[in-house]
Amino acid sequence: MPESTLPTRRLRESLGYLNWLYNPFHGLDAAGVYDLLSTNSPTERGLYLNLGYWRDATDLDAASGALAMLVGERAGLNPTDTVLDCGFGFGDQDILWAQTLKPGHIIGLNITASQVDLARRRVANLGLDEQIDLRQGSATDMPIESNSVDKVVAVECAFHFRSRETFLREAWRVLRPGGRLVLADIVPMPKVSGLSSRLEQRLSWRLVAGKFAIPPENAYTRPTYHAKLAMAGFDRIDIESIREQVYAPLHRFLAEHPDTLERLHPMARLPARVALRFEATSVYRGLDYVLASAVKPKQLLGPGGRRP
Ligand SMILES: C[S@@+](CC[C@H](N)C(=O)[O-])C[C@H]1O[C@@H](n2cnc3c(N)ncnc32)[C@H](O)[C@@H]1O
Repeated sequence: MPESTLPTRRLRESLGYLNWLYNPFHGLDAAGVYDLLSTNSPTERGLYLNLGYWRDATDLDAASGALAMLVGERAGLNPTDTVLDCGFGFGDQDILWAQTLKPGHIIGLNITASQVDLARRRVANLGLDEQIDLRQGSATDMPIESNSVDKVVAVECAFHFRSRETFLREAWRVLRPGGRLVLADIVPMPKVSGLSSRLEQRLSWRLVAGKFAIPPENAYTRPTYHAKLAMAGFDRIDIESIREQVYAPLHRFLAEHPDTLERLHPMARLPARVALRFEATSVYRGLDYVLASAVKPKQLLGPGGRRP
């Protein structure tokens, strides 16, 4: 970008943040949020945009990679697999899987064009473009042939999809019989008792859902999630809450390393700093974090010839 247009771009960006974060009547769609966030990832070495899996991790880069590995390992990615990765951010997870679990072929779908461009360049620079094919497209309308992939994965993004249910049907369609779906995903917590806890829970969910483009139709808890996977035709469904390894350790890390927030846009630092003044229990009271997996049955027709 020519030097003269930089101040204009910075001003536009600041106004965008101001409107997004501080105007209660304004929200953005998912691509709008990620265009605005741009490459201001709080990670130091990569460009991950997830909250991380902190069981053994001691910094944000390690935790973000660990979340990707948790999904990749739960999916059993291996050299015979064709994998569809929905919502790949800047491609960090695909690069990590290609270098470690080495799936035969990864196709990525991401709705945010600016991320797709940079992710494709990063993959090409590493000479991985034969193995990793990143495309712009939506997880709810996959430009992918039916029964053509072995695994569908989505790391911390299915909550954005309009709707998650449409995505589940699409995932079922493109998976080969016997194929596996694995998601790291955010859902609301089951309702707690007590008025103040309940209010805190509601506020916590509403703030996140409102600012991070989570449509109301995706706001359901684990049992409904299970039912929706079953309705889409999946079996061997497992939904595990991993929230204890996500929110509280992330909050602790950020409180102990406030310099991490310097990597955010200046307009985003204030709400992040305010959140750190509260206990993690309060800030994240409304948010569950799940690792969900399910399999498309090999035998697709039931005894009555009924397709699920
Ligand atoms: C929280 S980021 C996670 C990125 C990456 N998985 C990671 O762990 O760093 C959510 C991602 O979902 C993508 N996304 C949102 N809605 C989408 C949709 N309908 N189809 C495909 N990607 C979508 C966004 O562009 C963004 O890359």
